[in-house]
Amino acid sequence: MKIPKAANKRDQAVIDKLVAHGQQHALRVWDEITPGSRDKLLRQAEKIDFDLLDRLVAEHVTSEKKSAGRSKITAAPVTGQPCTDEEIAEAQKARKVGEEMLTAGKVAAFVVAGGQATRLGYDYPKGMFPISPVRGKSLFQVHAEKILARGRRYDSKIPFYVMTSEASHRQTVDFFEQYDYFGLEPGDVRFFEQSMIPAVDLDGKFLLEAKNRIFTNPNGHGGSLMALKKSGALDHMKAVGIEEIYYFQVDNPLLQICDPLFIGRHRLAKAQMSTEVVAKEDPMEKVGVIGLIDGKLGVVEYSNLTEEEMRERLPDGKLKYGGGNIAVHMINLAFAEKMNKGGLQLPYHKAVKAVPYVNENGEIVRPEKPNAVKFETFVFDALGFCKNSVTMEVARAEEFHPLKNASGDFSVETVQRAMVDMHSRWLQAAGLALPRAAQDRPWAVEIGPLTALDKEELIAKVRSGHSFSWGLCL
Ligand code: UD1
Repeated sequence: MKIPKAANKRDQAVIDKLVAHGQQHALRVWDEITPGSRDKLLRQAEKIDFDLLDRLVAEHVTSEKKSAGRSKITAAPVTGQPCTDEEIAEAQKARKVGEEMLTAGKVAAFVVAGGQATRLGYDYPKGMFPISPVRGKSLFQVHAEKILARGRRYDSKIPFYVMTSEASHRQTVDFFEQYDYFGLEPGDVRFFEQSMIPAVDLDGKFLLEAKNRIFTNPNGHGGSLMALKKSGALDHMKAVGIEEIYYFQVDNPLLQICDPLFIGRHRLAKAQMSTEVVAKEDPMEKVGVIGLIDGKLGVVEYSNLTEEEMRERLPDGKLKYGGGNIAVHMINLAFAEKMNKGGLQLPYHKAVKAVPYVNENGEIVRPEKPNAVKFETFVFDALGFCKNSVTMEVARAEEFHPLKNASGDFSVETVQRAMVDMHSRWLQAAGLALPRAAQDRPWAVEIGPLTALDKEELIAKVRSGHSFSWGLCL
């Protein structure tokens, strides 16, 4: 193909780069597009890390590494829920340390919301999804109110960092603005975008998603560590005295955000990064589990375990690989910095997917078979770089029911049911009868985070004679 000539040095440098890295075909519709579109294409290409791409293509696409056999997988220790007196005393001590950290304003909340919500089939950022069963509060609102309430409980502030990606950024920021940051101080909420990375075809070449755009995807939630650094969020955290980051996913409205017990255990262990897990419901449940991979802590995908391993039990009856990853982490600030020394230290994984593209004739092709290799990093791969780490089990019914799918498991219906079940349990524990309508339609009850963050708070409020404005929601 004829290589176009640019009108200025900057544009020519980008064209030369595309040629030098064998990606000049991205310019093949150059003659058909307007100067504005050409500029768009070049500005996008300018941001690409071509050396990284060359390396990933060489490793994963053109000369795929021969597998050195399966990694050796062994179980990792999990701190269970406290039962014995000794465990309860340990938990009390750890919770106190976590509370002190919160009171001192040393903890930030960080949500990763850069994913594409493809399985949910929702046209807006997933965080905007109206999830709460009665009020229809969005996932973002539920999270923001929990952060606000947690901060108030400790007479402190928890800054909230929100990672978006190219597609979700503007809408996310506008949404927070539209709802006055859900009660948080605007200055306490900071947004930043994660990086995008091009996918390639099965020969390692870029795909065009439009005539003026190379197909790219967010670089995985592991990209959050890089985005924290690149956006200046880590510097900002340091400046305001943050030492630990509470990391969570946008899709789980049940979460106890900034649970002091988790913060305290992580801190007491001098851990670089820690993880919350839930006990697997069924040995064959398809979740990643915490384990040691060739001796290093990480998340083992269920597809990497044999059925026998999935069913294997420890002497106490618990599953050997039973700690289901719920993607909640404590990350030490200095560790996040370290993971960025000399570029992001995480490996990239590949996923082969069907990606629509523009062909030589400028037509959009929607392939039926996978035609593209996407690259992604996973935040839990950072666990392998930790000297110390805590894996803490939490109660599934009180902490984990993410919104993933349009129907079936982990859909709106099951998430709302889980929220209602949890709040109904709290009401009963506090000695409050379920509202009448809720008895007929037991799914229709909701306790807002600003009323009670947990069962204990609700019980305490009831005991102290707090008057609630009754309805289906508190
Ligand atoms: C993930 C975990 C799985 C865990 C489950 C718990 C992986 C590979 N697996 O699964 O072990 O049991 O969550 O819910 O991660 N995101 C970004 N940027 C990206 C990609 C994702 O911000 O580039 C965010 C999403 O917005 C979302 C979260 O990461 O908040 C999870 O992404 P998702 O793809 O839904 O993870 P799962 O495959 O469901």
